[in-house]
Amino acid sequence: MKRQINESILSVWRHLLTSCENSPHLPCLDRRFLCTWWSNVQMGPPDVILGITEAYKRDTDPKKVNLGVGAYRDDEGKPFVLPSVRKAEEILHKKALNHEYAPIGGEATYTDAVAKLAFGDDSPVIKNKSNCTVQTLSGTGALRLGLEFITKHYAKNKEIWMPTPTWGNHPQICNMLNLPHKKYRYFDPKTNGFDLQGALEDISKIPEGSIILLHACAHNPTGVDPKPSDWEQLSKVVKDRKLFPFFDMAYQGFATGNVDNDAFAVRLFVKEGHQVTLAQSFAKNMGLYGERAGALTFLCGDAESAAKVMSQVKIMVRTMYSNPPLYGARLVQEILTAPDLRKQWLADVKLMADRIISMRTQLRAGIEGAGNKNSWRHITDQIGMFCFTGLKPEQVERLTKDFHIYLTKDGRISVAGISSKNVNYIAEAIHKVTA
Ligand code: LMR
Repeated sequence: MKRQINESILSVWRHLLTSCENSPHLPCLDRRFLCTWWSNVQMGPPDVILGITEAYKRDTDPKKVNLGVGAYRDDEGKPFVLPSVRKAEEILHKKALNHEYAPIGGEATYTDAVAKLAFGDDSPVIKNKSNCTVQTLSGTGALRLGLEFITKHYAKNKEIWMPTPTWGNHPQICNMLNLPHKKYRYFDPKTNGFDLQGALEDISKIPEGSIILLHACAHNPTGVDPKPSDWEQLSKVVKDRKLFPFFDMAYQGFATGNVDNDAFAVRLFVKEGHQVTLAQSFAKNMGLYGERAGALTFLCGDAESAAKVMSQVKIMVRTMYSNPPLYGARLVQEILTAPDLRKQWLADVKLMADRIISMRTQLRAGIEGAGNKNSWRHITDQIGMFCFTGLKPEQVERLTKDFHIYLTKDGRISVAGISSKNVNYIAEAIHKVTA
């Protein structure tokens, strides 16, 4: 009896599965009769920056060059572990620390050290504890957490204004959060420089209380930064319009080779009384790309308000990833708090910035030396990790197709990917696609 029941259940199943397999109306059932819940998901495009690295890796040509992602390489074209980071690794190894959870907002020694690096040791915000600083998953994590916090808790005008152009991930993060994003003029293609008048004009029309995104230094993707006197004018118009400045500082040290000089804009805004929000990253200036060490700071006016903001940020973090990863933050903390190590690190940052400057000079000389009649002055005028070459999309395509040189479609190159071994090849190729 029992056996008969089992047989009939099995036969009903067999019948069902066969009809599902043959049915054109049930596309969600695959050949193994497993149902997928995701048949409505469309294929997304590759990331505009990280997708370039994927394409580069697939290329088997020995001459291939990756100038896509902003990641520092040494003159052999190899990833570079900073000597200060190696030393910090040894110190940490000897300490044989445990792997307990970090506090939700990160270790206080870390957040204090990174806030001082950004605002300066004697900044009043540090002294009166009006900052709420938390460790984040590098710069992207700081942007995401900061902007998400804004969408939930900011009471004024929830729209953000970004420079044209800006880092591709900025608008993407806002899209994820349904935070409207708009543009102000920044880069002038005619001069390949900063469009001060355009920026001032546009910013002076931004609705009061809106958020304005500012790149603190080494603007990505253009390599064009406002001069100190330009920053003063920007600070004034931002204040007049009562805008909320959100700084992204992913390249502190990479613009001038000096971390204090590169914090000029942030510190000026603070001095001028702005309550800034700041995203920091240690991916580039410590070469800790994969360790995801960063920070988010809200300046809150006073310690009481900072404590309230911190309590809400912690709730947000707890519900996203509980608490941040330890290792990268421990390295940063070691480097920033041990005087000898910090000195070594400052020298390491300068070394990276100087190699990039020297590659700019050699690239420009190479293109001009090949007899190219266009102006290439902007290669050496621009600063930081990137050069916005002015190459058109079809020229970029030719560079990749014919010369195996990979870069983003907007013509941005990561100068850090150039070395004395490949600079002539790259210069020759740029000459050929633009002559
Ligand atoms: C870049 O712009 O290439 C870097 O910031 C890396 C990234 O994540 O996009």
